[in-house]
This record gives sequence, structure tokens and C-alpha cells, in this order.
Amino acid sequence: MRPVRIGILGLGTVGCGTVNVLGRNAEEITRRAGRKITVVQASIRDPGKTRGCAISGFALTQDPSQIVTNPEIDIVVELIGGLSPARELVLQAIAQGKHIVTANKALIAVHGNEIFAAAQDKGVMVAFEAAVAGGIPIIKAIREGLAGNRIDWLVGIINGTGNYILTEMFERKRPFAEVLADAQRLGYAEADPTLDVEGIDAAHKLTILASIAFGIPLQFDKAYTEGIRHISLADLQYAKELGYRIKHLAIARRSNGGVELRVHPTLIPERQLIASVDGVMNAVLVQGDALGPTLYYGAGAGAEPTASAVVADLVDVVRTLTTDPNNRVPHLAFQPNALSDLHILPMEQVHTSYYLRMQARDRPGVLAEVAQILASHGISIEAVVQKEPAEGEDSVPLIMLLHRVMEKHMNAALERIEALDSIEGKVMRLRVEALHKTWK
Ligand code: NDP
Ligand code: HSE
Repeated sequence: MRPVRIGILGLGTVGCGTVNVLGRNAEEITRRAGRKITVVQASIRDPGKTRGCAISGFALTQDPSQIVTNPEIDIVVELIGGLSPARELVLQAIAQGKHIVTANKALIAVHGNEIFAAAQDKGVMVAFEAAVAGGIPIIKAIREGLAGNRIDWLVGIINGTGNYILTEMFERKRPFAEVLADAQRLGYAEADPTLDVEGIDAAHKLTILASIAFGIPLQFDKAYTEGIRHISLADLQYAKELGYRIKHLAIARRSNGGVELRVHPTLIPERQLIASVDGVMNAVLVQGDALGPTLYYGAGAGAEPTASAVVADLVDVVRTLTTDPNNRVPHLAFQPNALSDLHILPMEQVHTSYYLRMQARDRPGVLAEVAQILASHGISIEAVVQKEPAEGEDSVPLIMLLHRVMEKHMNAALERIEALDSIEGKVMRLRVEALHKTWK
């Protein structure tokens, strides 16, 4: 049988990782796919750049539209990133009847509904395993392996750069900016690293996970997103003293007739396995009603871990080239005409526990004032720690753990606490989740 011919849009970190893995493991990949997979053309932008792979075995172009219209090409692998021109190129390739493999979570989260509809019309596949959690086969696990379950919730550490930064700050006391520069050099960060540190990349991935877990359309614009820039070493240490780790969690959960879709730094108990996921590693904890909790762990970014998922998708697409398009695994796990209209809950309606850190004047009655405000909003205190004042200072750090309450009550209480004369500046507020399997 003739080889399956692929064209790669973009030969950066992941594009070159893919070329290298396809070359090195060619024999085993052919044995798995049943056909040889050959790169026939790839696109780059800057011909002067040094590449992390050999570029001699295929044609190179600076015009990506040559690839999507090349009649020789069966599968287009989109590894440019971002929304445009990726969206236009992918839609053009689909219109030409080509299958797509992409690692682009922004593209799928924002334009996935449109792209999948176009692909369905043309009877082609769009595979996107590498878009979530790097090399971990989490899409396949949820879409196929857990297909018998009603998924109650999932939480993930799904941005390698953010987890690497928090780990290095905590373990080695390194400054934020220096660790971020490291993550960029190692090829973990997005071309625009604010997507990583502001939680947008994780929200793209969470949007995709929630859709395949609950069978809802992709709704990135409704995800609540908070980044990690405001996390200080002091918070990481106080959390540790209280028996927690701070992780940048992405959470999707059925609740109150809707779905929570939120990304934010979160205190989680140290004893939870996912609390020890460090560095660039990612993990996703999924709670299904039949299986209970399962945890998926692996490298969340980098050239070859991501290429592992891209190549797995290529093998999957090649294996199913001849199947009836109506009998393939649906893009979003559920049949396209069976998606549900479960609404995404606004963050104000989410219930969670909280960690607060505030700088309080060292004088009698301050704690009582804060406690009174919390009580008046129905918020009960689980633990309080007051630290010694620093040399020459007349204010002390006051740290509190609070029981579960609806976010809108917490917001109202915080506004009043910050207005107290006895409290200096803003209160640091982080959410706390125990991740019990009974969290329903
Ligand atoms: P890079 O920036 O390393 O590579 C992007 C490639 O696309 C480069 O070859 C670049 O050309 C080319 N390119 C960029 N913009 C354009 C454009 N406007 N027109 C034509 N070509 C363009 O990105 P990555 O390889 O890191 O990421 C690729 C995709 O994979 C992204 O969607 C990313 O989110 C995703 N991803 C990345 C992971 C990682 O660990 N890096 C992990 C999982 C997913 P040139 O090289 O000439 O500049
Ligand atoms: N920038 C992303 C991350 C790449 O750090 O997780 C993997 O999607």
C-alpha cells in the first residue's frame, strides 16, 4: 500500500519533535499504522532559523497554503499555533478533503465548533490529542476509555510552564521572571507566554476537556481564568505549613444543574497524589461514577512528549482512513446531534473554600472585626494563623482557612474587610479544594 503523505505546518518545537519521532520510530510506527507515514512537505516562516530537526527529506515552503492545497498530501499537521492563520489554513485543508492533526488548543477551544462541523460535512477527521496535557493521552482516555461513565468532575494541572514556575519558586526559591525565561528556553512556553502565566492556555485545554467529559459545545468565553503572577513565595510556604500545596488547577465539575469551568491557583491537601505533580509534569484527575477516580500523569510540554501525542493521532487517523465517517469516534466524544445545553455557571455562583492572607495592624480586636464580617456573610473559619511582626513593623500577616461558601458571599465579605482601617492593602484570596471523591 502506498505511504500516507503528510504535510506539516510549522517546524518549531513540536514540528521538529514530530519529524524526529516519525524518523526515529518509523519502523514501529509503520507496523502499528499498517502503512508508512511520510512527511512530503513542511512550512516555515524564517528560512534563516536553526531547526531542531533535519529538513532534507521533504520539500520546504514559506507559503503554508501550498501545503493545504497540495493534492499529494493526505493529512495536514497544524503546528503553527494561535488563531490566525491557523484557522483559515485548517478550514482550507478540510475543504480540500484533508484530515487534520493539531496540537493547537487555542484553535480548538475557540474555533472547534466551526472546525468540527466543517470536518463532519467533508467526512474528514480532526485529531487533537496533543492539544491537552502534552503527551498524556487524556483525550483518548476520556473519549474512549471512560465512555461508560457519567463524569462528575475533573481537575488538572494542565499547563507545564505554570507548574514548572510554581515548583521552582517553591523548591529552589527562584524568582518568577528567571524561571519563566527557563521555561521559554526549554520550549515549554507558548509563543506569547502570558497565555501560560495568566491561565489562558489552561482555560483553552479545560474547555476541551469539559466538552468531551460532559458532551457540551466548546465554550471558552465562559471559562473563569486567573493566573499565577500574584502568587508569592510567602503563600507557597504558608500553604505548606497548613498541610497544602498551591497548584494552578483547571476544574470542570457538574454542580447545581450547570457546569463549573474555572482555572485558578488552588490550595490542595498535600496528601492528594496530584499535589506532588511537579515541574513540567501534568496530571488530570477524573471522577467517573462507575470507575471512581483515575489519575493520568506525564510530561505536559516539550518537543518529543508533545510529538508523542501528535504521532499517536497520525497513527489513529491512518488506521481509520477507510472507515465510514459516520462510524468514527465523534470529535467531542458524544454524537454531534446529542450535545447537551448544560449551562456554564458564573464564578459568583461557585461554592468553594478559601485561604486568605492579609496584613493586619498589630492591635487588639482586629481578628474579631474580620471574624464578625465573615460571620455576617455566613462564612465560618476553619483555621487562623497569626505570624510575628517583621522587625520594625507594626502589622502582622494573618492567614485564614475558611469553610465552603458561595463565591459571591466571599466577594462581598472581602470588600468590607479591605475597607477596614486595621487591614493594610488588598487581601490575598486563594481557593481551596479537598478533592474528595464524594465532591458532587
Ligand atoms: P513554535 O513557535 O516553536 O513553532 C511554530 C512554528 O510555526 C514555527 O516553525 C514558525 O515558523 C511557524 N509559524 C509561526 N507563525 C506563523 C505564521 N503566522 N505563518 C506561518 N508559519 C508560522 O511553537 P510550538 O512548536 O511550541 O507550538 C506549536 C503548537 O503546538 C502551538 O499550538 C502550541 O500551543 C502547541 N503545543 C506546544 C507544546 C510545547 O511544548 N511547545 C505542547 C503542546 C502543544 P519559524 O520557525 O520559521 O518562525
Ligand atoms: N505552553 C504549554 C504548557 C505547552 O506550558 O503547558 C503545552 O500545551
